[in-house]
Amino acid sequence: MLEQTIMPAIGVAGNGNLTLGGCDLNDIVNEYGTPVYVMDEETIVKNCRAFQNALVKHYGDNFTVAYASKALACMEIYRIMARENMGIDVVSGGELHTALASGFPVDRIYFHGNNKTPEEIDFGLTVGIHRFVVDNLEELHLLNKLACKRRLCVDIAVRIRPGTEAQTHEFVQTGQLDSKFGVAIINGEADEFVNQALLLDGVNIVGVHCHIGSQIFEPEPFAEAVTKLMELCRNWRDKYGIVINEVNIGGGFGIKYIESQDPRDIDEVARATAAAVKQCALTFDFPLPHLVLEPGRAIVGNAGLTLYTVGSVKEIPDVRTYVSVDGGMTDNLRYALYQAKFHAVPVRYRSNDIRKPVALAGRCCESGDLLAKSIDLSPVKAYDRIAVLATGAYNYAMANNYNRVPRPPIVMINDGQSRVIVRRESYHDMCKNDM
Ligand code: LLP
Repeated sequence: MLEQTIMPAIGVAGNGNLTLGGCDLNDIVNEYGTPVYVMDEETIVKNCRAFQNALVKHYGDNFTVAYASKALACMEIYRIMARENMGIDVVSGGELHTALASGFPVDRIYFHGNNKTPEEIDFGLTVGIHRFVVDNLEELHLLNKLACKRRLCVDIAVRIRPGTEAQTHEFVQTGQLDSKFGVAIINGEADEFVNQALLLDGVNIVGVHCHIGSQIFEPEPFAEAVTKLMELCRNWRDKYGIVINEVNIGGGFGIKYIESQDPRDIDEVARATAAAVKQCALTFDFPLPHLVLEPGRAIVGNAGLTLYTVGSVKEIPDVRTYVSVDGGMTDNLRYALYQAKFHAVPVRYRSNDIRKPVALAGRCCESGDLLAKSIDLSPVKAYDRIAVLATGAYNYAMANNYNRVPRPPIVMINDGQSRVIVRRESYHDMCKNDM
């Protein structure tokens, strides 16, 4: 079944309904309504373990897999990550607060962000964050000042722009010279950062970090980026006598959303990355660093789908058929932002239907509010229920209240049982901050 290559936990029940993790999705709609995000816990756990096992196999045990929680941040996800011995990356005070509120251990938290506020830095210092990943000189000096005030010297990692161009949408490319993130190697920004950091009492550089982009399918860009980081570490040792013992290559490991996409297995990516680090360590006579990977999408993306109810089906002869659903850019911004592609299928699954291209439209007052401009879909009519697949990452995380549409709930499935992990927003919630 094609759908299982996109989401392994999908199946079809005896009555012909689509299932996820053994739950009939028609029953899920009857119980929780639409739109609703549905996630399979076993897939999330398997994804965490796939990264950890691949690194154990190819690198030994000197690594951390830190879930990039921007992909999906809520208390229950952080609890799952804690149980799975994952680290996490947070990028705001809000994510940090949510993680701590869930009981996530602070000594496994990496704090990112290209423009952390003084309050956020202070928050991190107050709770004793494991690692600040410092983006720029202003942040370096601010962190130093706030740390000195507390008579602290904090270990930091430096966000590097390695100059690697990933083959992906330009909005999710981050490693190239022309990017708002980090300090570049090629024009001396990174060296200047070290020069200034070495004069400060409140910070101590122990790591380097980069993130080259998102939804990358091949291992080579990761191996290339990590090689650049290792070369930088060698140069810093030779020039400044500092030893970097943590190398963090960020996230970006792609997943399959549609039939034609074929990302490499994480085992292959881990093998190529580990081989590049080991090779550099050998050539540069450098100790093997603690290796950190920060997958977000690859942990939660293929664990989740979104269920909608079809409203109108508007056939415009010789132009296009618009199938409107009761959600859209408020719960899935990814088509509007990146022209992202998805696979959709009716909950009443019919494998031999002839799929026809339609536009899958949302309910907002905006022509660009589409889930897809042209998607092959089985014939559907009003009140049918459909599933859009692989929406576990960057869907709830980027959901919004445009047109005062309340955000859908997240229902987690585990072993055939369902539970709400984030409740549906109410109309009351829409007004709760209004004065
Ligand atoms: N680490 C850092 C520092 C990052 O900035 C990101 C993602 C990750 C890790 C995780 O990347 P992932 O493994 O999930 O690709 N909203 C976009 C994706 C933006 C990613 C931003 N940074 C989307 O929906 O495709």
